[in-house]
Amino acid sequence: MATETTRPVKVAPSILAADFANLATDIARVGEEADLLHVDCMDGHYVPNLSIGPPVVKSLRKYTDLFLDCHLMIDNPDVLLDAFADAGADGITVHVELGDPRPLFDRIRALGVRVGLSFEPATPYADVEAYLGDIDLLLVMSVKTGFGGQAFIPEVLEKVRAARADIDRRGLAVEIEIDGGIKADNAHLAIAAGCDILVSGTGIFGADDPAGAARRIREARG
Ligand code: DX5
Ligand code: ZN
Repeated sequence: MATETTRPVKVAPSILAADFANLATDIARVGEEADLLHVDCMDGHYVPNLSIGPPVVKSLRKYTDLFLDCHLMIDNPDVLLDAFADAGADGITVHVELGDPRPLFDRIRALGVRVGLSFEPATPYADVEAYLGDIDLLLVMSVKTGFGGQAFIPEVLEKVRAARADIDRRGLAVEIEIDGGIKADNAHLAIAAGCDILVSGTGIFGADDPAGAARRIREARG
């Protein structure tokens, strides 16, 4: 079994912190250091902020071959699943706080898209545990959803450790992703707790050298 020092780590720049008028340019600045692109979709209802949706995913799809990791912070994901899939989403993550996600999982999978489940910092691990066998990705929020640039909440690492232990014990292929407040100086905590994918918005696009920041996040070790 891979340990925290040998497990490969992927970095997912969150384009929420990029310049929306120059997305292609900003993504190019991260270059080869991006393993996926994290796309935060907010509807102004599930969270008090509004961001982007399928049209932007469609434009990104023409521009990049990177895995488009779409994090839906929207009240009614069911009405937009087809649009996200048609636009070229590779992964769609929904929130457990909306209720039983299994019908959404079935639809996402039927669309040929990878299935993600996310939960807020205040939501206990027990609320997602029952779904581990149904998903490809568990997205652990390390800030309350809605805005980039918030401070990392270290208490969520306990939930990462619990998920890591269950996933390894059951031999599941679920990847653990963490999202919120991740920067080069705290990434080692998430890696040590067992994360596979580190999302970072302001930690990458707010840096003078976004590619270097992404590399430092991936290579962070205690
Ligand atoms: C918050 C979003 C995050 C956000 C992360 O609701 O889900 O993906 O963009 O931004 P930083 O890395 O700046 O905390
Ligand atoms: Zn996100």
